[in-house]
Amino acid sequence: MKEQLQQIKEEALAAIGGAESGSALERIRVAYLGKKGSLTAVLRGMGALSADQRPVIGQIANRVRAEIEQALSDRGTALADKEQNDRLSAEKLDVTMPGADIPKGGAHPLYQVEREMSDIFTSMGFDVADGPEVELDYYNFQALNIPENHPARDTQDTFYITDRILLRSQTSPVQVRTMERQRPPIRVISPGRVYRSDALDATHSPVFHQMEGLVVDKGITMGDLKGMLETFARHMFGQSTRIRFRPHHFPFTEPSAEVDVSCFVCGGKGCRLCKGEGWIEILGAGMVHPNVLRGCDIDPEVYSGFAFGLGIERVTMTKYGIDDIRLLYENDKRFLAQF
Ligand code: DAH
Repeated sequence: MKEQLQQIKEEALAAIGGAESGSALERIRVAYLGKKGSLTAVLRGMGALSADQRPVIGQIANRVRAEIEQALSDRGTALADKEQNDRLSAEKLDVTMPGADIPKGGAHPLYQVEREMSDIFTSMGFDVADGPEVELDYYNFQALNIPENHPARDTQDTFYITDRILLRSQTSPVQVRTMERQRPPIRVISPGRVYRSDALDATHSPVFHQMEGLVVDKGITMGDLKGMLETFARHMFGQSTRIRFRPHHFPFTEPSAEVDVSCFVCGGKGCRLCKGEGWIEILGAGMVHPNVLRGCDIDPEVYSGFAFGLGIERVTMTKYGIDDIRLLYENDKRFLAQF
């Protein structure tokens, strides 16, 4: 019986040593220590032993059982450790690995410039007004002192939808809509899209953007217009920027002017950007014509105002030295990524 026990022990320990999983260990436990297990069978047979043999064999059998149990438990722990280590190394993340590059989007340069312009004007107390792109002839021309058959209509090749309805050729109609809605003091800008039936080339586009400005109050003078535009130009193009007014004609302002900024590349000496002029034209402006005020039921004897219209493409191209307007509409990422 001693040899039998010895053999069971050796077999069991060998089996335990070779077990590769918790469930294999459990099968081994049942095979040796379970109710029908081989060690259990031996212990059951002890009844047949003599009284002096029984305690000797019993002691050996208990030791064998204890050794098998210890071996099961040690192997179980070792397997569990190994399993955890395997899982940890499988799940390991190298946090120092460079990540995948996620391409970043950004605001379009035209929109960036529009926002920058809006920020400058709103910081001077202007509100932002909006108007429709599909507009009535009345607002786009008539109410701006441009009656039918007026030659100024020829200078803005307009897309007509019907006799009365058109795609606005300028943001100036927002002036009229604002004055109809609101009593002075008025201080608004209005950025937006405008349309003219021009062929697309390096300097023209049938769709482009303007920003209109309008100030109406008691005692507004051309000096206010100059000071305000100078402040704008310095913020937009740099502190040393100067502005220059050239007499011009717009039907809705009197007097009218075209306004240039000193070239911020050469400072006025003349270079490629300003085409040797030293100055770059960026806007039209003037004192709101009494007819326009009157048409909106604002008494020109009491109130006066100034207005201006800026080309947003023009400002953007000037600011960034862009020489072809089409670059702003093609959405070539190699171009856009530079802003
Ligand atoms: N609307 C004019 C244009 O598109 C620009 C302009 C000139 C707007 C003078 C004004 C202004 O408000 O006073 O050419």
